[in-house]
Amino acid sequence: MPKKLNIGLVGYGFMGRTHSNAYRKVNNFFELDYHPVLKAVSGRNAEGVKKFADQWGYESTESDWRKIIDRKDIDAVDICTPNNLHKEIAIAAAQAGKMILCEKPLSMDTKEGEEMVAAIEKAGVANTVWYNYRRAPAVTMAKQLIDEGRLGRIFHYRANFLQDWTINADLPQGGTALWRLDAAAAGSGVTGDLLAHCIDTALWLNGSITTVNAMTETFVKERMHNLTGKMEQVKIDDACTFFCRFGNGSLGLFESTRYARGHKALYTLEVNGEKASLKWDLHDLHRLQWFDHKDEGRLRGWRSIHVSDGDQPYMKNWWVPGLQIGYEHTFIHQVADFLKAIQEGKPCPPTFRDALETQKVCDAVLSSAKEEGSVKKV
Ligand SMILES: NC(=O)c1ccc[n+]([C@@H]2O[C@H](COP(=O)([O-])OP(=O)(O)OC[C@H]3O[C@@H](n4cnc5c(N)ncnc54)[C@H](O)[C@@H]3O)[C@@H](O)[C@H]2O)c1
Repeated sequence: MPKKLNIGLVGYGFMGRTHSNAYRKVNNFFELDYHPVLKAVSGRNAEGVKKFADQWGYESTESDWRKIIDRKDIDAVDICTPNNLHKEIAIAAAQAGKMILCEKPLSMDTKEGEEMVAAIEKAGVANTVWYNYRRAPAVTMAKQLIDEGRLGRIFHYRANFLQDWTINADLPQGGTALWRLDAAAAGSGVTGDLLAHCIDTALWLNGSITTVNAMTETFVKERMHNLTGKMEQVKIDDACTFFCRFGNGSLGLFESTRYARGHKALYTLEVNGEKASLKWDLHDLHRLQWFDHKDEGRLRGWRSIHVSDGDQPYMKNWWVPGLQIGYEHTFIHQVADFLKAIQEGKPCPPTFRDALETQKVCDAVLSSAKEEGSVKKV
C-alpha cells in the first residue's frame, strides 16, 4: 500500500502550477512508497483559489495560509508565495511539525535565512528548497562528470541568466505578478531572483565561493507602485555582474539582467577544467556540450550530447532513448527525490542549510555592489 503524503500548497501562481503538475505526475513515472495527495491549496482570493483547486484537483481550499498550518491532515507545506512570506510560513510550518518544500530564494536575506534554518533544524522536519535546475538531467550529468574528476583541476566557472521583460519604463512595480520589482516583497532584484539559481548550481558543481566583487544597476529609477498608486523609487537591482573566487582556486564570472533585449530566460553555464570543459544552456536543456582534450587531435572538438538515454540521470524513468524531456520535469525530479529521501530518512538537497549558502553569496554580492565592487568575503 502506498503511503499518502498530504500536501498543503500556499500560493497558486507560476510555481504553484509547476509543483502541482509535479505532484500529480511523479508516481506515474517513479516507483516510490510515498504518493502525494493534493489535499489543500490556500490563497487570498476565494474565487481564484477555488478555480485553481478545481483545475488541478485539490480536495479543499483555504483563504489564509495559517489554516493550512493548523490542519492536522496536512503533512507537507509547499511555499510558493513571494519571497517576503517564506520566513513566516516556513517557521510556522516547522513549529507545527510539517515537512517543508520552500521556493527559492530561501529568504529575503541571510539573517532571515539563519532564523529559518534554526527553526527547521530544531523541529527536525524534512525540508528542501526548489532550486530545480540541479535536476535538469544534463546538469545532473555535469555534476557526475565533475565529481568523477573528468575535468581535472577547474580554472573557470561562468554563468549568465538573461531576461528582457522589464525594459519598458511604464511597467509598474508591486502587487500581483509585479512583486518581483518591489524590494519589500522580493528582497532584491535579479540577484535573489535569477543569480540565486546560478549560484546554487555553481556551489553544487564547483564548491564554495570565498570572495566576490560585484556591480549592480537599476536602469529605471522610479516606477508607479501598484499598491500605493504613486511613483516610487525602484529599490531592486535590474542587473548584476560579479566575479568571484571559489575555494578550489578557480575564478567565477556571473551576469544577470532583465534588460538583455531578445533574451527571455537564458540561463547558461560553462566550466573549464584542465582536461575538459562543459557547457549547458536552458534553451537547449536536454543537451550537454562537452569538450575532452584527450580525444584524438584530428577529431577533437565540442560534442553536443543529447541527454536522453537510460544510463543518463533520471532518463530511465521517461520515454525511450532519444526522446527528450523539458522544464517541468525538473520539478517532477525534485518531488521524486524528496519522496525517496523521506522514504530513506535522508536529506533532500538543497536543504534549507544548503540554500542558506546561496543566500550568503547573494548578500555578499549586494554588499560589494553598494561599495562599487569592493572585495567581500562570503
Ligand atoms: N524555482 C524556480 O525556477 C522559480 C521560478 C519562479 C518563481 N520562483 C519562486 O517562487 C515563488 C513564487 O513565485 P511565482 O513566480 O510563482 O509568483 P506568482 O506571482 O506567480 O505567484 C505567487 C502566489 O503567491 C500568492 N500570494 C501572495 N501573497 C500571499 C499571501 N499573503 N498569502 C497567500 N498567498 C499569497 C499569490 O496570490 C500567488 O498565487 C517566489 O519565491 C519565486 O522566487 C521560483
